Amino acid sequence: MSEGLDGLEGVVAAETVLSDVDGAAGQLLIRGHHLDELAGVWTYEDVIGLLWSGFFPSLPADLTGALGLARQAVFSEVAALDAGLVARTPVEAARALLARLGDGDDLDLALRLVAAPAVFTAAVIRAQAGREPVPPDPTLGHAADILRMTRGEAASDAEVAALDAYLVTVADHGLNASTFAARVVASTRAGLGSAVLAGLSALKGPLHGGAPGPVIEMLDQIETPAKARAWLEAALARGDRLMGFGHRVYRVRDPRADALKRAVRTLGKQSESNLGRLALAEAVEAAALAVLRERKPNRSLDTNVELYTALLLEALAFPPAAFTCVFAIGRVAGWIAHAREQVAGGRLVRPQSRYVGPRPRAAA
Ligand code: ACO
Repeated sequence: MSEGLDGLEGVVAAETVLSDVDGAAGQLLIRGHHLDELAGVWTYEDVIGLLWSGFFPSLPADLTGALGLARQAVFSEVAALDAGLVARTPVEAARALLARLGDGDDLDLALRLVAAPAVFTAAVIRAQAGREPVPPDPTLGHAADILRMTRGEAASDAEVAALDAYLVTVADHGLNASTFAARVVASTRAGLGSAVLAGLSALKGPLHGGAPGPVIEMLDQIETPAKARAWLEAALARGDRLMGFGHRVYRVRDPRADALKRAVRTLGKQSESNLGRLALAEAVEAAALAVLRERKPNRSLDTNVELYTALLLEALAFPPAAFTCVFAIGRVAGWIAHAREQVAGGRLVRPQSRYVGPRPRAAA
């Protein structure tokens, strides 16, 4: 494959005011703010306001209330969660429900598209555990209501703050694969529903947003820090990738890893088992970085967002199979902002391919 074509590495395919990923410095800027200014400080609704500002004619003064009403509006779709969908993975079930919202470009639909992954993820998690769905409480903030709808009871303030920090941390991240997919679909003027479905479909792959579930399997199999190195070496010898490590853009540590580790540590103060899990993850991280340096000396492979995502979502009692859905609950705000930006200023995305197949034989 010619240089630049393999995975479009290094190709600039859009201009954006939304976020900047500095892979060399390990910095993420979201509309002029360093991630550290936002994660653990702003609510998810605040960041939706930041990302969407200027991309809709006007935004409601009370975004928290408007999103609460949107959760309530989409809850009726949960009735379509039949046995066939419950038997699928959570992200496939949530995607099928999401498709029911249809298309359009208005703010009302945009809010429902943000509300939907939250409401549907909670309902799917409960249905897979044989439980009835819990209707949204529109008076709560998004993070608090997600935890309440999932568990059937209110979460602690610390847990709500940790989930808010997670949603803010993953809300937008340059032209990652799912955001690019959303922008391509938006560029055809297909509508916000289609753009979000495209983003979700790209997100679910194990090289993108599907990595944190397998991180938990890795930690479970390693069991104790002493076994980490041997396990990791055997995985690399088999040709496996270490989930939670490596990134197309970051050549240093992903700044989101530290934002999430801080959130896990705050939660850990409440539970000995969380602290034990954090110690295991830190030992696995140190061993993995050492083994990757030895085995792949020409590559700069460092920790990405998914290692501590896995730990945080596990501490919040989400089942690993649903981790990608929780990622989508946060990233959907970014997909919608990018889709609006693409439609506002961008042309149809239509690159070319270089034909390398056979040509018809010239007639004799
Ligand atoms: N473990 C082991 N080796 C790795 C890893 C890893 N996690 N990541 C990259 N490599 C190696 C590849 O095997 C390859 O080695 P080689 O040149 O000797 O064949 C080399 O590094 C380059 O790999 P590419 O696939 O070309 O790198 P790319 O930029 O496409 O990969 C990716 C980025 C997909 C994230 C990769 O690092 C990976 O698969 N990581 C594991 C999955 C993961 O954690 N995904 C989440 C990413 S963050 C997010 O999307 C939210």
